[in-house]
Amino acid sequence: MTEIELIVDFYKDTERQGPGSSFETIKALNFININKDHKLKIADIGCGSGAQTITLAQNLEGQIIAIDLFPEFLDKLNSRSEELGFQERIKTIEKSMEDLPFDNDEFDIIWSEGAIYNMGFEAGIKKWKNYLKSSGYLVVSEITWTTNSRPKEIEEYWNNEYPEIDTASSKIRILEENGYTTVGYFVLSENSWIDNYYKPMEKRFSAFLEKHNNSEMAKNFVEFGKEEIRKYQKYKDYYSYGFYIAKKL
Ligand SMILES: C[S@@+](CC[C@H](N)C(=O)[O-])C[C@H]1O[C@@H](n2cnc3c(N)ncnc32)[C@H](O)[C@@H]1O
Repeated sequence: MTEIELIVDFYKDTERQGPGSSFETIKALNFININKDHKLKIADIGCGSGAQTITLAQNLEGQIIAIDLFPEFLDKLNSRSEELGFQERIKTIEKSMEDLPFDNDEFDIIWSEGAIYNMGFEAGIKKWKNYLKSSGYLVVSEITWTTNSRPKEIEEYWNNEYPEIDTASSKIRILEENGYTTVGYFVLSENSWIDNYYKPMEKRFSAFLEKHNNSEMAKNFVEFGKEEIRKYQKYKDYYSYGFYIAKKL
């Protein structure tokens, strides 16, 4: 088993693969000034098992194309969407976010929660802009510094994990430099990190280790997860996911 297969095996049975909540998905949606009763075309990029995809389907009309690299996550989303009767409205595509099979000006909304970092914020917003209609909306959540300075330990940790981490003002400037105007911004709540993401993760650690016979790889993965949680508890005043709601000019 490769490390990626191990990670997918851990996350395929969790409701979310990153911090978030349906409350905050709806909060972001409320910044969008678009007739939500019209049949819209929406892309949800890096959808994982689709917690936010389902919330979008429940709160918007139209078609959602949900994209992820891993079929295990898409299978979960497809089952859930069938259970809820959304199978005609949510279509899944197994593809990389860097190589999307879309036309220019195809979408009213491009959504991506906690996933754009996989190709990098700036590269992502540049490339995905092509697929948005004029005046269409880009909504992304992205790890963000919430203060102007921070302790060295957490600065080094995140710079190592994701060198594009920055403050909201810098991210908004990047959006502006690339032909968007930001119509809304907010920071994910602590509840979205702890109750919706870290607590369910912690609950799964021991069964996961058992399933993988306490392999070195599984132990390293769990240790890495525990360390991430400790860091969040200690330094949560300094970073979070920022939700950026931007309109294509
Ligand atoms: C942190 S998870 C967020 C998932 C989901 N949006 C959520 O908030 O629960 C990041 C997602 O990006 C997907 N991903 C990683 N690299 C990708 C790529 N190159 N193209 C498409 N999806 C990718 C992962 O499989 C994972 O589902």
